[in-house]
Amino acid sequence: MNYKLIDMKIFGDERGKLVSLESMKNVPFEIKRVYYIFDTLPNQARGMHAHKDMEQIIIAIDGACQFILDDGKNREKIWLNRPDVGLYIGKNMWREMHNFSYGCKLMVLASDYYDESEYIRNYDDFLKSI
Ligand code: TYD
Repeated sequence: MNYKLIDMKIFGDERGKLVSLESMKNVPFEIKRVYYIFDTLPNQARGMHAHKDMEQIIIAIDGACQFILDDGKNREKIWLNRPDVGLYIGKNMWREMHNFSYGCKLMVLASDYYDESEYIRNYDDFLKSI
């Protein structure tokens, strides 16, 4: 399975906490794009795609959601629910996001610019592609 959970260092003191994300340091690729997802709903799934050539790190800055990760052979479910844990997803991994908590905010760091032609949005096409 081409994914891993990365514990990010927290700089915390009496003022609060801070996490820093840096290309080729705690983020294992050059960051070309950042986007975030908010105003999600518990009964609305997202994702349902794979990337042919994109790496990402996803962080639940606030709230929680459940990821289904699938490499075509194995399927695993994990909860993302900490602002100091990054979910790294490599290439050719089918991902689904379910069970968003109200107010969940996901921040995504991506290794490349948005390119719809690089998405695989049909699960059967994904299985054929790997
Ligand atoms: P979509 O891929 O459906 O989001 P998710 O994977 O979270 O379910 O993207 C929603 C819309 O936003 C879709 O029209 C494509 C657009 N979009 C961009 O224009 N740029 C981006 O960087 C991303 C991630 C999506």
